[in-house]
Amino acid sequence: MERFDGKVAFVTGAASGIGLATVSRLAREGARVYASDINAELLARETALLAGQGLQIHSRVLDVTDEADCRAAVAGCVAHYGKLDVLCNVAGMVLTKNFLDMAAAEWDRVMAVNSRSVFVLCQAALPHLLETTGNIVNISSTAGLQGLPYNSAYCASKGAVLLLSKSLAVEFASRGVRVNAVCPGAVDTPLVKNIEVPEGADMALYGRMFPLTSYYAQPEEIAGAVAYLASDEAKFVTGSAMVIDGGQTAI
Ligand SMILES: NC(=O)c1ccc[n+]([C@@H]2O[C@H](COP(=O)([O-])OP(=O)(O)OC[C@H]3O[C@@H](n4cnc5c(N)ncnc54)[C@H](O)[C@@H]3O)[C@@H](O)[C@H]2O)c1
Repeated sequence: MERFDGKVAFVTGAASGIGLATVSRLAREGARVYASDINAELLARETALLAGQGLQIHSRVLDVTDEADCRAAVAGCVAHYGKLDVLCNVAGMVLTKNFLDMAAAEWDRVMAVNSRSVFVLCQAALPHLLETTGNIVNISSTAGLQGLPYNSAYCASKGAVLLLSKSLAVEFASRGVRVNAVCPGAVDTPLVKNIEVPEGADMALYGRMFPLTSYYAQPEEIAGAVAYLASDEAKFVTGSAMVIDGGQTAI
């Protein structure tokens, strides 16, 4: 008996990094997964590889900033699999920039991708999760716990994800739905590899973004935490912020 036998999971950001590792982990543990991402080509390629290994995955292109399509995707998942047990909000973007150079439109974009999407998808999923007494795992960040330089919009967006998770955990605890957040530090994914250090950055301050270890986490390590929180093993865990950061926030 696997932990997710009979369970249905909806995952965003499923084409790459932590989202892809989460899809793989949940499916390997028995879940039927509804895997969504804005990157149609990568999503099709990666989910086909996993489906070729016998895993139960349905892929669905979704831009999480499109509210109507988010609601349609959740409805599509329930239509396809008959129910929803787990929502994993993983899709995200980073914008590393001097604060004084940031346009309001850039701020809005980061908030739309990282935070507003989580509000919309949680709201769309909760009626179904109430039926299954399911749960939500949202990917926040160490950037949701501490101030990181040149990351004002990212920090604000991830702080919002963390406190939205805690607020929902409180509001829905008595109705059997758990809501947790994971706060990774540096994880070896394209998101981190593509970060550009802003011009004139103070590298001593910039160093706050790095772990105390000499290496980054692999996405599978974060997926392992997501799977734990989403499983019945974590039935007493709600409103938590699970930090996986190589000691970054310990000092
Ligand atoms: N990598 C890290 O060090 C790190 C640390 C803390 C938190 N996180 C968070 O983890 C999550 C996953 O990031 P990752 O590191 O795996 O990066 P990644 O770039 O490998 O994956 C992000 C995925 O999100 C998708 N995406 C981006 N915008 C989207 C949109 N509008 N609609 C739908 N999908 C969209 C991308 O296509 C991509 O597949 C993000 O929320 C990120 O902020 C990452």
